[in-house]
Amino acid sequence: MNITLSNKPLSTEKADCLVVALPEKGDLPESTRLADEALGGLIKKLQKSGDLSGKNATTLMIPTPGQAWDRLLVVGTGADKNRTPALFRKALIAAVGQLKDGVSRHALFALHDSPVTGDDRASSEAAKLSLIGRTLEDQLYSFNSYKSEKPANSKLNKVTVTASAAGKGLKDAFNLGLATGRGMNFTKDLGNTPPNICHPVWLAEQAKKLAKEHEVIKTEVLDEKQMEKLGMNTILAVGKGSTEPPRFIIMEYRGGKSKDKPHVLVGKGITFDTGGISLKPGEGMDEMKYDMGGSASVLGAMQVIAEVKPRINVVAVIAAAENMPDGGASRPGDIVTTMSGLTVEILNTDAEGRLVLCDALTYVKRFDPASVVDLATLTGACVIALGHHASAVFSNDEGLSEELLAAGERAGDRAWPMPLWDDYQNLLDSNFADMQNIGGRAAGSITAACFLSRFAKDYRWAHLDIAGTAWNSGKAKGSTGRPVPLLVDYLMSHAGK
Ligand code: BES
Ligand code: MN
Ligand code: ZN
Repeated sequence: MNITLSNKPLSTEKADCLVVALPEKGDLPESTRLADEALGGLIKKLQKSGDLSGKNATTLMIPTPGQAWDRLLVVGTGADKNRTPALFRKALIAAVGQLKDGVSRHALFALHDSPVTGDDRASSEAAKLSLIGRTLEDQLYSFNSYKSEKPANSKLNKVTVTASAAGKGLKDAFNLGLATGRGMNFTKDLGNTPPNICHPVWLAEQAKKLAKEHEVIKTEVLDEKQMEKLGMNTILAVGKGSTEPPRFIIMEYRGGKSKDKPHVLVGKGITFDTGGISLKPGEGMDEMKYDMGGSASVLGAMQVIAEVKPRINVVAVIAAAENMPDGGASRPGDIVTTMSGLTVEILNTDAEGRLVLCDALTYVKRFDPASVVDLATLTGACVIALGHHASAVFSNDEGLSEELLAAGERAGDRAWPMPLWDDYQNLLDSNFADMQNIGGRAAGSITAACFLSRFAKDYRWAHLDIAGTAWNSGKAKGSTGRPVPLLVDYLMSHAGK
């Protein structure tokens, strides 16, 4: 797909489909007004007749043969007052969906002047162009690597996106959007790859490949022996029940000053979660291939950083293991000494995410981080609490939590805060060790976060539970590429000028 930015006047842009925005009420955006004029008042007529409501994310494809463009795609953008980036994104998704299944080859997206609400970083033309670029890449994704007959490609092969000017700021924002979309697609490819291929060693190879393709990234991979030396016993305890060995992956990007403390990302990389000896029920277990979604989003975000090269230092680590129930597996009741020295009684081997993350959180202390954000498909309870719309944010630092929430809001990749009060901590008391790895049914995602917090005391830390947002189930089963947009927005907001 060829996706480019253009600031030429609409009338001089040749394309076989023009895409414009229509609000529910009020003035038309400039591009829509120009299109309406060029088409003899067609849009206003259809608005009057009721054929065009402008309701958010509605679309109408109107053939206009013999005109400057062969067809016009009108996408509703809803009420002016409430046009969050998330709603604007929905409208964009609807528009791309029409084009994917349509006959147009070259679409002209004239949406840069459709208003979006929010602060300047959410509502500026740059922000909109970024979102348009990202949504195009994101929505034109498909995963057919394992089909012997590939579905026919969409006819669409070129998209031109309009902008008001040729400035570097707009171009950079658009390119960041495209890079973010590609980063999401990398994340999706990793998540969608079947678990007999995507095991910890394979995941480490993907990280090495990223470093090979982008010299600004350095990757190091620790094997079991090296992990043993470091005392990463809880990661090893999780990997022990599988014939696929665990790996610990470290990636570094140093684009900032050498004295700038790095922002650290930590990804849960369970390439398949059977539950171990505390075996999960069979139904839908295939979806536990997505249990490396946290690590996939870390890799996706690192690819974006490698492409846009911001002035910032970023370190990413991934704790990769497969949670299987063979004769070497951990048993309920086992007590393991974590890398931090604290002991954990494993009462449920299915609460393995926190076990691999705790050693990773201990490991990253050495980077003297400016912040640490871990990403994990950690608890089913999180899906019960928030469903599939928001990732949960837990943090020991209110400022960091607010930054992440704001980044998610701007990026249309939302998160929601959850409490990390001390009141919940005693649910993890163990009769035999310093703590146990489960806290009971109540507040399951909070006790999981409480467990992690015990290993993250020395720095500003946040935990994102992405169990509800990393993939879709059902007919549209597949990785979503979330929360790459949130992470990229967060990291870019710390980049020096
Ligand atoms: N990977 C799962 C969490 C999960 C389950 C995410 C379903 C999305 C959908 C995690 O390792 C897990 O099994 N958590 C347990 C924890 C429990 C044993 C305390 C859970 O949520 O049931
Ligand atoms: Mn589990
Ligand atoms: Zn898991």
